[in-house]
Amino acid sequence: MSKKYYITTPIYYVNDIPHIGHAYTTLACDVLARFHRLAGYDVKFLTGTDEHGQKVEKSAIAKGIDPQSFTDQVSESFRNLAKVMNFSNDDFIRTTAARHKAGAQALWNKLIENDEIYLGKYDGWYSVRDEAFYAESELVDGKAPTGAPVEWMEEPSYFFKLSKWQDRLLKFYEENPDFIKPASRRNEVISFVKGGLNDLSVSRTTCKWGVPVPGNEEHVMYVWLDALSNYISAIGYPDEKYKDYWPADVHVVGKDIIRFHAVYWPAFLMAANIAPPKTIMSHGWWTNDGEKISKSVGNVIDPIGLVKEFGLDQTRWFLMREVIFGNDGDFSRERMKMRINSELANKIGNLVQRTLSFVSKVCGNQGTIWVPISSTVGLEEFKDEAYKNPVLSSCMGLYEECKIAMFQQNISLVLDKIMSLVDQTNAYFNDAAPWNIDTANEFDKQQLVLYTTLELIRNIAFFLLPFMPKSANTILYHLHLIDSPEPIEDDIYFMLYSLEINIGKQGGLIPNAPLRPLTEQLFPRIQEK
Ligand code: MSP
Repeated sequence: MSKKYYITTPIYYVNDIPHIGHAYTTLACDVLARFHRLAGYDVKFLTGTDEHGQKVEKSAIAKGIDPQSFTDQVSESFRNLAKVMNFSNDDFIRTTAARHKAGAQALWNKLIENDEIYLGKYDGWYSVRDEAFYAESELVDGKAPTGAPVEWMEEPSYFFKLSKWQDRLLKFYEENPDFIKPASRRNEVISFVKGGLNDLSVSRTTCKWGVPVPGNEEHVMYVWLDALSNYISAIGYPDEKYKDYWPADVHVVGKDIIRFHAVYWPAFLMAANIAPPKTIMSHGWWTNDGEKISKSVGNVIDPIGLVKEFGLDQTRWFLMREVIFGNDGDFSRERMKMRINSELANKIGNLVQRTLSFVSKVCGNQGTIWVPISSTVGLEEFKDEAYKNPVLSSCMGLYEECKIAMFQQNISLVLDKIMSLVDQTNAYFNDAAPWNIDTANEFDKQQLVLYTTLELIRNIAFFLLPFMPKSANTILYHLHLIDSPEPIEDDIYFMLYSLEINIGKQGGLIPNAPLRPLTEQLFPRIQEK
């Protein structure tokens, strides 16, 4: 049995169509999920939509549609985004689905059984935009600390005994230093919890759009308790089979929702005798040309528009590469063009193109190109010789380093390492200058340079697979290692693309085997206007 890896995105509110922030969170998870699959893990990658609560209810009313039809439509646009962005999620959970409601209600019942919930009355501030309760002391100029408007609420409510979990949460953070990442967020959460916790209102009577509270249908469950339970309902809770994947390895979330995931969620779980997830990885926020992204400002970035304009893998690359994962980042079209041109077109695309075209010149014949071969030594010796190249022989170790980084969600470090491998390969090819080698006397030397460069490109393609699955597949297709120009995503996926098997594998390319000539540019330059 291979090791399990369970990774989740937040489930998205369906009050509006997806934007760049949503695409970003899911993309980061996709990269991590793909990497782990290719590293031999049994991966469960979950995403979905958060369809209840007052915010969604209000949006449906504003559109004059009943909430269920409204959420059906918007949820579909998130599934469509997954297709367009080439996300490899294994499941898509909707909180309006029966399997989710059953899981959420089972969690509720467990909390009741454990005497963790009691009936009382809530009077206080509530922000519909944040779907969060705020204490008077937290308000800034009459608004939520996030800037969202708040309204006074008085209604009967069930409460979760959050206050009693303060010490246990602090102990849990202490014992699990990797639970909240990055460290800056961890510190924020710890100081929030040290400040004292109030019991949490976990049901509403004024909002009807939610999962009914078992045994008291006047109430619906608070949308965050409902939503958080998706992480277990999707894998079968309360059926014991949920333990096949639980505890989750990582919940990736934006910095705005860390409190719900790092405070409320582990408290709910511990109170229900369920182990908390292993890591909450929080990422930063994108601004657009320095401005906060918001519908009212009208500067929302449509990820599908970016894919249409710049290309799929170009968009994936930019989003992952531009900002250190965990930090805030700024989107600008100029930066996006620059990155595509300088890294994808000039470095990666150009390397593949000029190598293949030079190889086709010297090892080609009537439309067929051959993997370079020695005229004097045998195959094995030739391959051994190539792997004496320090850059090529570093690939195996590099993969081990990438694994460690990916286990820690350090996506940016992996991308730095890949780009450095690309730079070293370009430098090797330039320095070795195979076009200057006198083939009448040094035929083998030139063949070895070309073979070594092709092997480096082969390794680079495997390293790129989790980030740009289609383009990496195209490279492998031209190296004649994959027969399909489109990625094959079925049962043989692992055998074909496994990083474990392929990276650093001596003689991945067999001398004298055929290659496919490149007919189109891998990453066309974006013209500056
Ligand atoms: N429904 C809740 C999550 C429930 S999880 C049990 C929610 N949904 S959301 O649609 O508002 O946001 C989902 C994610 O998108 C969050 O992680 C949020 O941080 C992320 N982003 C929304 N805008 C963003 C940016 N401008 N930049 C980066 N990510 C941002 O919260």
